[in-house]
Amino acid sequence: MQVNDADEPAVPSSTDQHMTTISRHYFGNSSDSADAFSITIIESMKEDYGLFVWPCSIVLAEYVWQQRSRFSGVSVVELGAGTSLPGLVAAKVGSDVTLTDDSNRVEVLANMRRVCNLNDLKCNVLGLTWGVWDVPIFSLHPRIILGADVLHDTSAFDDLFATVTFLLQNSPRSVFITTYHNRSGHHLIEFLMVKWGLKCIKLRDGFSFMPSCKASGLSGNIQLAEIVLNSDQADVADTIN
Ligand SMILES: C[S@@+](CC[C@H](N)C(=O)[O-])C[C@H]1O[C@@H](n2cnc3c(N)ncnc32)[C@H](O)[C@@H]1O
Repeated sequence: MQVNDADEPAVPSSTDQHMTTISRHYFGNSSDSADAFSITIIESMKEDYGLFVWPCSIVLAEYVWQQRSRFSGVSVVELGAGTSLPGLVAAKVGSDVTLTDDSNRVEVLANMRRVCNLNDLKCNVLGLTWGVWDVPIFSLHPRIILGADVLHDTSAFDDLFATVTFLLQNSPRSVFITTYHNRSGHHLIEFLMVKWGLKCIKLRDGFSFMPSCKASGLSGNIQLAEIVLNSDQADVADTIN
């Protein structure tokens, strides 16, 4: 087992311990801010992409931290959360958080429970497969929906947008905040937003708000978008910034 930037021993997990890594992620400056904290994440090199902290997750988690006043006391659902860094930061700054990932990925869901315990954070953990309408999704009423690198596999985009649209409709004035690699322009995303009656109200270069110490470890063209129901546009825009 390898420990990255962590001074505590990692949690022994299973026979594949040697494939497990602990990483620690810092928010705020502990020398001048009393509310600074760190989040510890368990990653597995053995598993596929859901158990790795992707760069989009680091960018979205930093955005949550910088916008923390928006997150205090509100209900947050993270989609395709994987190692769940943005959702855990939201929980740390006072959100009521539900972390979700593909219902079939039991190892990812189990890892979410482990990182919640490790960070002493109480989040709901729920299997939620995009485009599938299992009973628990009907009781989700998030004010903010998070998704880091969930616009990854174009064949899943339509299902993702179906789920996002459902959640936005289920919770008036809610917003979907997502970070993604802009690999081939925004055309497909723009097409799907029109198809599902959504509107982008904020688009930022992910590196424009990253502290240089974090940005230097990342690469790619990462964008951050805030997306709402077309009909909600004016209401939600009032609540931003
Ligand atoms: C590229 S990973 C990003 C993980 C994490 N958000 C991050 O940025 O570190 C994509 C995530 O979406 C999840 N995912 C993929 N297809 C899904 C689906 N159809 N329904 C729900 N989750 C899905 C995967 O299990 C994985 O955790």
